[in-house]
Amino acid sequence: MNFVDTYISRKAIELATAVLESGYVTAGKYADKFEEELEIRLGLINPVTLNSGTSALYLALAVAGIKPGDEVIIPPQTFIATGLAVMMHYAVPVFADIQYDTANIAPDSIRKKITEKTRAIIPVHWGGYPCDLDEINAIAKEHGLAVIEDAAHALGAVYKGRPVGAISRFTALSFQAIKHVTTVDGGALCCLNEDDYYHAKRRRWFDIDRENAKPSVLGEREYDATDVGYKCHMNDLTAAIGIGNLYDFPSMLKRRHEIAGRYRTALKGVSGISLLGYKDDRTCAYWLFTMLVERREDFIRALKSRGVPASVVHLRIDNNSVFGGTRPDLVNQARFDENQVSVPVHNGLTDEDVSLVIESVKKGW
Ligand SMILES: Cc1ncc(COP(=O)(O)O)c(C=O)c1O
Repeated sequence: MNFVDTYISRKAIELATAVLESGYVTAGKYADKFEEELEIRLGLINPVTLNSGTSALYLALAVAGIKPGDEVIIPPQTFIATGLAVMMHYAVPVFADIQYDTANIAPDSIRKKITEKTRAIIPVHWGGYPCDLDEINAIAKEHGLAVIEDAAHALGAVYKGRPVGAISRFTALSFQAIKHVTTVDGGALCCLNEDDYYHAKRRRWFDIDRENAKPSVLGEREYDATDVGYKCHMNDLTAAIGIGNLYDFPSMLKRRHEIAGRYRTALKGVSGISLLGYKDDRTCAYWLFTMLVERREDFIRALKSRGVPASVVHLRIDNNSVFGGTRPDLVNQARFDENQVSVPVHNGLTDEDVSLVIESVKKGW
């Protein structure tokens, strides 16, 4: 049994082969089609395909106008990409505390971290469980801040009836190798506002308006870059893989829910374990199945001896030197960091694997 899984469908291989054989591999009709499919199939708003989730965060911060010295509020419970994307703009990541029972950023802690330099908030949907987006967007509105959801774990998550990717000003998605839908590496930035969408599309490719910059008689496109643009677009080869994999996503997400549902029923009340506190008004995309576990190292060792890989995913990031070291005031983060551990939840698991996970946990450690 593997802890994580990379899923590549037959269709993805077929479409990727067609792109390779066509001789046209850069951004083109497949990258456009992947955007259309994300919109139609998942209800995402204005998805702009990119070469990674990190690029999606970086580009969102650029389009939001983040400048050196600006402050951006983020949780420490995330992958280092979230904080580094802020620092790539020479801006300052300010760490807010999380909720102990969800690992998501706590709105009351966000309020305490706002200063006159704050410009944006990046809530991270830990393991695919949506943050308190109404509260966070209300705080952002009150203080004129941009909300950039880091939804790297949360493709297919739903918050109060709306898909993640259709709620806040920006949503960053990742299609990295072990995500729900992979393009090998890739990402997308969803933009609620048309103006942000226009600029995200330009700035992902050198700030050139690709759709409108037509070649002159000389053969070269005529364009005028007015902003700093980057090179972080998605190419047709990776987009083709994404399209092929996306077709299977609904059934794969359903399977993740089935597995997680079995875990939640069977492991509720098991001594030494607390399940995360998920509310009925939102649906977790279950990229991870994280639990809070007493004597975590013994737990990991015991499960390993029974053939089950359990693992910690992403320790708090603020303690990296680049961010200046552990923030002592984040008490929930400190507790979560001591107790969190995840068990496998992915499409490579058989029903027997799921039973083995449950039995292995119930046997104790
Ligand atoms: C929370 C979070 N944000 C951002 C990223 C970065 O995504 P990518 O690897 O596609 O750049 C990851 C990657 O795993 C992540 O877990």
